[in-house]
Amino acid sequence: MNKPKLVAGNWKMNTTLSEGIALLESIIKGVKLLKTNTKIAIAPPFTHLSEFRKALKNTDVCLAAQNVSDKLQGAFTGEISALMLKDLGVKKAIVAHSERRQYFGETNESALFKIKTLLKQDIHPIYCVGELLEDRERERHFEVVEEQITTVLYQLTEEKLPKLTIAYEPVWAIGTGKTATPEQANEMHEFIRAVIAKRFGEDLAGQVMILYGGSVNSGNASALMAQPQIDGALVGGASLKAEEFIAIIKAAG
Ligand code: G3P
Repeated sequence: MNKPKLVAGNWKMNTTLSEGIALLESIIKGVKLLKTNTKIAIAPPFTHLSEFRKALKNTDVCLAAQNVSDKLQGAFTGEISALMLKDLGVKKAIVAHSERRQYFGETNESALFKIKTLLKQDIHPIYCVGELLEDRERERHFEVVEEQITTVLYQLTEEKLPKLTIAYEPVWAIGTGKTATPEQANEMHEFIRAVIAKRFGEDLAGQVMILYGGSVNSGNASALMAQPQIDGALVGGASLKAEEFIAIIKAAG
């Protein structure tokens, strides 16, 4: 039997707390009506985490964060530590999203520190990789993603590796409505798994979930999820619409 897929919603910097609670309640209601094996995670703004923990108490939906500091505590104004996320019942955290790479200087190296810090608190990282449009146009996309993978995953132990999820998000598909074709996405996922297998072997590489992100919606989710190397989706805009998000979860099986 195929392993269950994961569909995670990245709400980014959207919704006030009251809007977020209303949206979450609609999602929970819709999920309860689905008979799905799909794992679900929601990454709201930090400000929602405490209330969302209560709202998710009797559900299978897991609470995720959109970022984390690479420091554990101390004089780092504005930062949120893995210890604080653990204290709030956060189970997963997105690391190195392309928007954090683009606007906030996130690098492969800072991502590695964050991933190690999360794993120490038994929070499962969702590590984002993906090429820019110019990389793809210059046919450097495999080279770019390979470096993003080897710089980080090759520094992890075999024991920790299966706790990591990869999200392949071609930057040119994020928020643009331009989705990678299922074949393009599957090809990159297959490449990523092969790069992991080079270091850790096929079995361990097979245990790492690789999500696709980039304009996933109810119209393209089924074709993407049908691809053998796609283990789920990291959803932005469509996760802010309960019906769309539930349709994507349904498409995942
Ligand atoms: O992290 C997921 C996000 O970057 C994808 O955004 O709006 O293209 O689904 P969107």
